[in-house]
Amino acid sequence: MARYESILETVGGTPLIRLTRAAAGLQPRIYVKPEWQNPGGSVKDRAALSMLRRAESEGALRPGGTVVEVTSGNTGIGLAMAAAHLGYRAVIFTSSAISREKRSQLAAYGAEVRLVDNFVPKAHPDSLRSHGERFVAETPGAWLAAQYDNPANPAAHYASTGPEIWSDTDGDITHLVATVGTGGTISGTARYLKEVSDGRVQVIGADPTTSSYAGGDGSQKFIEGAGHFVHPESNVDDWPTSLDSGLIDRFVRIDDRRAIETIQWLARTEGILAGGSSGVAVAAALDVARDLGPDGTVVVPLPDSGRQYLSTYFDDDWLTANGFAGSAAPTGDPTVGERATPVPLVDRDEQVTDVVTRLENGGIGPDDVALVLYRRAGRSVAPHPTDVVGATTLARLRASSTVADALQSVGPRLGAGLPLPHPSVTRWRDSGDKIALVLDGGRVTGILHPESADPDR
Ligand SMILES: Cc1ncc(COP(=O)(O)O)c(C=O)c1O
Repeated sequence: MARYESILETVGGTPLIRLTRAAAGLQPRIYVKPEWQNPGGSVKDRAALSMLRRAESEGALRPGGTVVEVTSGNTGIGLAMAAAHLGYRAVIFTSSAISREKRSQLAAYGAEVRLVDNFVPKAHPDSLRSHGERFVAETPGAWLAAQYDNPANPAAHYASTGPEIWSDTDGDITHLVATVGTGGTISGTARYLKEVSDGRVQVIGADPTTSSYAGGDGSQKFIEGAGHFVHPESNVDDWPTSLDSGLIDRFVRIDDRRAIETIQWLARTEGILAGGSSGVAVAAALDVARDLGPDGTVVVPLPDSGRQYLSTYFDDDWLTANGFAGSAAPTGDPTVGERATPVPLVDRDEQVTDVVTRLENGGIGPDDVALVLYRRAGRSVAPHPTDVVGATTLARLRASSTVADALQSVGPRLGAGLPLPHPSVTRWRDSGDKIALVLDGGRVTGILHPESADPDR
């Protein structure tokens, strides 16, 4: 075993592990690179340490300083770990949408975790990014890591991830399949591998279906870390400069359900407990591998471990609540999905007269519910619940001059597989008469009226 003089020296140097059972029947070799073997538990330790060291060397971060980042978790964890070891204060701005395990880990390293939940575009003063930037401007000695636009992020992977993969495959790698969040991992690793192989290594971006990187509508997804979300009120879709999309030969798109099923299956058939974005990457790698012969060697970095998501992707209640589990109740009871009603969708910014005509032509009754959504160009799949602004009816629309004037609030989200009766459904029915959103695979596929949720109906 090697000997290290500090925890920070253990960042990097992760192995390659061949998929055997999960890749049975496929001709190429598929190797995964378990980045959770980094000390903070994710691939982002590499970027965090690289950005922090560069800030120190450039004088942007000095002894007694404060390390600040806005993050979906893992970069903050890497920074918090390094800051703890090096004696810096760490202040991490993140959203409560990240898993409980990641928030707890940040706090365990002594970082101050500031939760910002406002659903606003990046440029808005209440956005995560604005909070971080304001805090840095107001705090002497504070440095914002800014992983999305920090060249030290991809540089970490050019210096370590790429060379490790090349050396551990003895130069045999033919395909790199990786997710794209900030783009640091794929850009730095791909640049190295393309250079060293004279362009031979093919680079495939594994992207959540709705991510705008691969042409999705930019709406939210349930997989943390991978892909690019665009707030519906953003006028611009600015991609991070950490991403060099010219290095990506093509994308493979994977939806949340398949990503989650892939990590459950990896855990159960291969004994590899990986996080959600790893599910996107492995599912994409299997699709790539299907078209390759025995000379193929596919390498897939797995950004973090399933242990970060035991309360989400591996938790039956979470899976059921978000429509990722059970389409038939084992007891034979009816389910929320069976009682759901399909629902017409209306853009919040549509002309009210156009909406009324459309709904009338569609045979919608005056009191039937329609869901009002943020406008989103190129919507290609059922909406994510965060794109739902509220509900309305034809009768309300007829009496209003804009769609926004006709809005009513909606009740909770209920997973399609929830059996009836269920405590969460009973609580909602007892609390009023709002319609509930029915989620299947994390998308809103219908609504449920309180009276339809009566199990004895
Ligand atoms: C879980 C997870 N997966 C994937 C990624 C994407 O990595 P990168 O930012 O290097 O593109 C991240 C990064 O934030 C992550 O936390």
